[in-house]
Amino acid sequence: MASERTTDQLIFFVNGKKVLEKNVDPETTLLTYLRRKLGLPGTKLGCGEGGCGACTVMISKFDNSQKKIVHYSVNACLFPICALHHVAVTTVEGIGSTKTRLHAVQERIAKSHGSQCGFCTPGIVMSMYALLRNRPQPNMEEIEENFQGNLCRCTGYRPILQGYRTFAKDWSCCGKGINGPGCCMTGKVGGCCGRKVNDTGCCMNEKEDNAAMVSSILFNPAEFHPLDPTQEPIFPPELLNQKDKPQEPLCFKGERVMWIQPTTLEELLALKAQYSNAKLVVGNTEVGIEMRLKNMLYPVIIAPAWIPEMTFVQHTEEGITFGAACTLSFVEVVLKKAVAELPSYKTELFQAVLEQLRWFAGPQIKNVAALGGNIMTASPISDLNPVFMACGSKLTLASNEGRRTIRMDENFFTGYRKTVLKPKEILLSIEMPYSRKNNLDELVPSKYVSATEVFHKDLVANVQLFQEVPAGQSVEDMVGRPMVHLSAAKQACGEAVYCDDMPCYENERYLTLVTSTKAHAKIISIDTTEAQSVPGFVCFISAKDIPGSNDTGIANDEPVFADNMVTCIGHIIGGVVADTHEHSRRAAKAVKIKYEEFTPIVTIQEAIEKQSFYKSPRKIEKGDVQNGFEESDHIVEGEMYIGGQEHFYLETHCTIAVPKGEDGEMELFVSTQNPMKTQECVASALGVPANRILVRVKRMGGGFGGKESRSTLLSTAVAVAAFKTGHPVRCMLDRDEDMLITGGRHPFLGRYKVGFMKNGKINSLEVSYYSNGGNSEDLSLAVMDRALFHMDNSYNIPNIKGVGTVCKTNLSSNTALRGFGGPQGMMVVECWMSDVILTCGLPAEQVRKLNLYNEGDLTHFNQKLEGFTLRRCWEECLVNSKYYARRKLIDEFNRQNRWKKRGIAIIPTKFGISFTLSFLNQAGALVHVYIDGSVLLTHGGTEMGQGLHTKMIQVASRTLGIPTTSIHISETSTNTVPNTSATAASVSTDLNGMAVHKACETILERLEPFKRSNPKGSWKDWVGAAYVKCVSLSATGFYRIPNLRYDYEKNEGNPFNYFSYGVACSEVEIDCLTGDHKNLRTDIVMDVGTSLNPAIDIGQIEGGFIQGLGLFTLEELRYSPEGDLYTRGPGMYKIPAFGDIPTEFYVSLLRDCPNSKAIYSSKAVGEPPLFLSASVFYAIKDAILAARAESGLTGPFRLDSPATPERIRNACVDMFTKLCPSAKPGTFKPWSVRV
Ligand SMILES: Cc1cc2nc3c(=O)[nH]c(=O)nc-3n(C[C@H](O)[C@H](O)[C@H](O)COP(=O)(O)OP(=O)(O)OC[C@H]3O[C@@H](n4cnc5c(N)ncnc54)[C@H](O)[C@@H]3O)c2cc1C
Ligand code: FES
Ligand code: FES
Repeated sequence: MASERTTDQLIFFVNGKKVLEKNVDPETTLLTYLRRKLGLPGTKLGCGEGGCGACTVMISKFDNSQKKIVHYSVNACLFPICALHHVAVTTVEGIGSTKTRLHAVQERIAKSHGSQCGFCTPGIVMSMYALLRNRPQPNMEEIEENFQGNLCRCTGYRPILQGYRTFAKDWSCCGKGINGPGCCMTGKVGGCCGRKVNDTGCCMNEKEDNAAMVSSILFNPAEFHPLDPTQEPIFPPELLNQKDKPQEPLCFKGERVMWIQPTTLEELLALKAQYSNAKLVVGNTEVGIEMRLKNMLYPVIIAPAWIPEMTFVQHTEEGITFGAACTLSFVEVVLKKAVAELPSYKTELFQAVLEQLRWFAGPQIKNVAALGGNIMTASPISDLNPVFMACGSKLTLASNEGRRTIRMDENFFTGYRKTVLKPKEILLSIEMPYSRKNNLDELVPSKYVSATEVFHKDLVANVQLFQEVPAGQSVEDMVGRPMVHLSAAKQACGEAVYCDDMPCYENERYLTLVTSTKAHAKIISIDTTEAQSVPGFVCFISAKDIPGSNDTGIANDEPVFADNMVTCIGHIIGGVVADTHEHSRRAAKAVKIKYEEFTPIVTIQEAIEKQSFYKSPRKIEKGDVQNGFEESDHIVEGEMYIGGQEHFYLETHCTIAVPKGEDGEMELFVSTQNPMKTQECVASALGVPANRILVRVKRMGGGFGGKESRSTLLSTAVAVAAFKTGHPVRCMLDRDEDMLITGGRHPFLGRYKVGFMKNGKINSLEVSYYSNGGNSEDLSLAVMDRALFHMDNSYNIPNIKGVGTVCKTNLSSNTALRGFGGPQGMMVVECWMSDVILTCGLPAEQVRKLNLYNEGDLTHFNQKLEGFTLRRCWEECLVNSKYYARRKLIDEFNRQNRWKKRGIAIIPTKFGISFTLSFLNQAGALVHVYIDGSVLLTHGGTEMGQGLHTKMIQVASRTLGIPTTSIHISETSTNTVPNTSATAASVSTDLNGMAVHKACETILERLEPFKRSNPKGSWKDWVGAAYVKCVSLSATGFYRIPNLRYDYEKNEGNPFNYFSYGVACSEVEIDCLTGDHKNLRTDIVMDVGTSLNPAIDIGQIEGGFIQGLGLFTLEELRYSPEGDLYTRGPGMYKIPAFGDIPTEFYVSLLRDCPNSKAIYSSKAVGEPPLFLSASVFYAIKDAILAARAESGLTGPFRLDSPATPERIRNACVDMFTKLCPSAKPGTFKPWSVRV
């Protein structure tokens, strides 16, 4: 009986230090323990469901079956603390530090610019570290595969791979002698870029004519410290001494759950007989998810990891038998060896299992998840069960009554997540049989072989080109040089502090939000009785607790807490404050709310039918559209839907609010792009003047627009909780809450009519845009404005009319996301452009080029294009990508392959720079110079990984003429620079850079007399002299962009300061039978003016491109017809991973294109490159075209975004798709709707 067992002491090691824990709660994860109990915040919480890898740590233990110490990476967010007995944990803090020495894996990711916001970085560092502990010289394939369990939303992965490639044994560039373009390893395979080099040497030699001014050296591997495996921390001797001692059974009892770890099979079977409902937990990758996300409670857990009969492997006459608790990684190793050693025909099943395991999660999951766990979860989407069933694997089951062996056939699964196992039974082992000879290969005609080939990707190769700084530029002047992000080393060591990394205050409380489960309803009652009985419950807060105004939001049209009505699922109704996160989460789930429901409006279509809109539609019109149509040879009409997008910043929204106890003062630490709006909303809700509210932002783990306005939802609620309790209150949203509550990119519907000539010249365009704004106005109108300003993309359309309507629906309010409506506006352009091209039957690049603007042209909003570099980008991209030669190769490939097709597309972009709301184009800076000469710089922008602080320090350093090391930025705060615009719209470097420059110039002016009187003196001398003469060494700077104004009525004025331009060419291959695709190659040429920092700018281009690639090809938000978001985590919502980036990825910054409109001739770069990923979408469309041609289909066809496998497959119309026609709308209730 549970009560009879006493609880044991848990013993384990963390970073070499022994931990003894007497009060073990089996519900506690290793991540919570590390962060909260041990104060090791380097390991991050990104998703809590094993999907992002931010929480990766390394486990080391002595493995008795292998008779050696094994090291493996795990997800700390799922790893139960009880499974730690007698193991050693290594976290990012344990391998290196900026205070002592960076470990080679930390140094290389930092110096190769592989860290932007840095929130994913510790996890990536630990994944690499664990790989190197097992293989000090891995090959490149192993490195790429190793990262399948890690996500990064910022970098686009290329720099991480490039930095870590230097550990590979087949990385052939030695790092010596690369002091210019080229590779010292001429003639070898796998040059510095990872690309195959030919007899002429490194691929860089192909760009000889540029060699004098162009560089590809973003970092110098020669600077890297070598990896020295002998320096790694040793395995704790105390644990090694344990290896010969038998393990004792363990029991840990927590508030709700008991964990029992037996050591013999008999004991285990007796326990299972006693607790037949108990769960057998090995990896906890299923049970952990059920308990956390599905609110399941399993009071008894039995851990079979120490049972020899469940962890063995045995080779028999028939096949290989594995104990059910063998991990998938172990199975992988054994099967790979068998495949290598046995005749191929005997191991076809093993190969099939290995192929499944290749796509199965990442190493962190496979290292802990058990074979038996996969089978016994009995999930219909299991990757392994179909293979086991197909080959007739045998399962041995055991109970205290005996054993039986059964075949895993159609009778094994008896229902959803149900099997034939009896309650007392467990799965003991699985036998995978050898396969027999077949002659399948000889039966397939050559043209159809492509249907049988496995769709694998090649290793990534890349080259990044940028212009060198002019000869003679001082070495101290870092402007234009690829300076490393200033926080990179700290991020790589887990020392960079994010909001939730701040130590807990004494008496701190935790808030969990209570949100609506109905999309449109009246709140009838709220019952907190059950919640109050949860231990640690402090209070429930709701609209009644707001001392000031409950009205909030950009348009003041939403409540802080829904009072009477709820208008979306995820609408914040209130929150539970408790002593810990766990307790507040549990209590929040126990709050009961009764509703009276109304019919919600969920989709754009429903909103149009019900005329549910925000304000009247926006319109931009130029020329005579009707006349344009009449003069056209062809007119095409069509429609395109572009799905929304989740920001998926790795750090979810977080706030800590600390009441100061005097005069209504409150200090808030917030992960926000918008300190000013945060201050304003909190002040209004608390009913105090703004001067009592201090908002501080150190850094964010990514923002992408998601923390521009929606962060105030949480920060205001936390502030109210802190006000009511008088205690510091913290809340960091769980990933599922964040995805549900805070909205994302607006889904768009574009309807168009385009008139054009036979040669493809566009005459006239009429387009209507509809966006799904959700339940509040937020920034939706401004997003729609930007869509309309970009309804030309880069093309001159003489007669044009665009109307934009924002739909008011019962979804969480949608908001800013990188590009802010621009990508949706331009995507519709390329959609009708594709129709024009297919109608004319002309080469795509010819028609696009024909319509491009020229220098001096007026846009559709009558802004003159000056410094129009787009045509240069276009020509350079055509050359760099070898477009015409590859077009021919692609056509040849398509002729030879029936079921695999390739496609290519070259796409331009033009992106207007400035906030379209002109008063936002202002910024301030504050410079303090201290008498030791050091400078503290503050400006209005926030750091979210984009490298703004690094660039600002570069600017200040050049202006003041002092080294960057003398300048420090601590944070952004409302009490240093007031009234700041959000860090958004790509203009933060332009605005804050100028403000910083001005503030620094003021300082310089004041120092001028002292410089003159002591010309040979140092900066410190002049500063000291000025101080003694009572000259102020503190200055502010202020900047606003001049002459910005636009009049919708008259369609005149300049809404933008200037434009950023770029062109991308992408090639893809699709699998016509599955709809899967591979990104083979992308070439980008981008105008970023005179780059302030080529490494950061290239990082933004690649990161933006990959985020766009997610938007247009992978990321699909799924909603129920009732407006419920299904996709609430990485398990359901797929952002690009390491394996999704183009196999060949070349980025080049346009040379000699200074921009007179921004600081030091630079240009904005954050958002403009995102749309270039449309080149991948249209390359997919090109490939589909080739597939359709096999079925005799030509001409325009519809492909909505994202181009998911499902859409690609269905667009490749063939004999198979005809077998399953879509059901008629209205004849069934769909499980999911297009919103
Ligand atoms: C991020 C992530 C990615 C994933 N990716 C994939 C994927 O690509 N493909 C896929 O198929 N699955 C995937 N899964 C699901 C999961 O990892 C696998 O099903 C895994 O094999 C479960 O093993 P486990 O040891 O972690 O199970 P646990 O969570 O420990 O247990 C799972 C269930 O099995 C039962 N059980 C375990 N062992 C026995 C036994 N010997 N006898 C009786 N019952 C037993 C337990 O009682 C429990 O009900 C993923 C999960 C996560 C979190
Ligand atoms: S936080 Fe653990 S995998 Fe995402
Ligand atoms: S740097 Fe990887 S998520 Fe930001």
